[in-house]
Amino acid sequence: MTKLVIGNWKLNPVSLAEAESLAGSVVGNKSYLELKNVVLLPPFIFLEELVKKFPQLQWGAQDFFWAREGAYTGEISLEMLKNIGAKWVLVGHSERRRYFGETDQSVNKKMSAALAQNFNVIVAVGELQKGDSSNLVTASLKESISGASPKHIDRLVIAYEPVWAIGTGEADDPVRSNRIISELKQTAFKMFGSASGQIRFLYGGSLTGANAEQFLGQEYIDGALVGGASLKTDDFGEIINIASRF
Ligand code: PGA
Repeated sequence: MTKLVIGNWKLNPVSLAEAESLAGSVVGNKSYLELKNVVLLPPFIFLEELVKKFPQLQWGAQDFFWAREGAYTGEISLEMLKNIGAKWVLVGHSERRRYFGETDQSVNKKMSAALAQNFNVIVAVGELQKGDSSNLVTASLKESISGASPKHIDRLVIAYEPVWAIGTGEADDPVRSNRIISELKQTAFKMFGSASGQIRFLYGGSLTGANAEQFLGQEYIDGALVGGASLKTDDFGEIINIASRF
């Protein structure tokens, strides 16, 4: 299975010009083999323009609300995202859980809505503290993706992101992450049977060009969710090049 590389720009950059230059640098490097396996998640406000200008990349949103329209001040709906050509959504990133009150229950509701609307959905899970039991991650996964329709499951992607590794410069041990992901795959198998083989499982947390090979070379890791390094042209380019070798 080709490895997937997803860049989560978070609350960056601060202008459309910078966003275009960042996307342009991803597209411009001709050594990148598999741009169709690269997904970028910019802030909502730049999305429409970026989708138009860079159709060779896959584009998505970092969050959304499940209602189609109505009295929900400040929210963005799947319908709106669909209308501007976005095909991916991220749900349940640890920063959304920590700062904006996202829970496994709200993640589940969003996941179901987005799968039903034909989006590719990335659901993020991960333990808070180093040393926390993997049972916590398994429980969060079960709750977050329960009820996913087997007929849409090929559009589901799980990002395993140990929260203590996000943005800290301290990535997990790749062998450990591989083991946790194999446990998560077993959990998904118990939930959905053989259809679960279509779900891709990514690692995220301080992934860089320097350690990407160790993670992407692992048997059960199907790709990477990249935060900080997705804003650094050279680093992100290196990650994509490494991913395209597998
Ligand atoms: P990081 O972020 O790569 O900066 O650790 C990962 C993420 O938040 O998805």
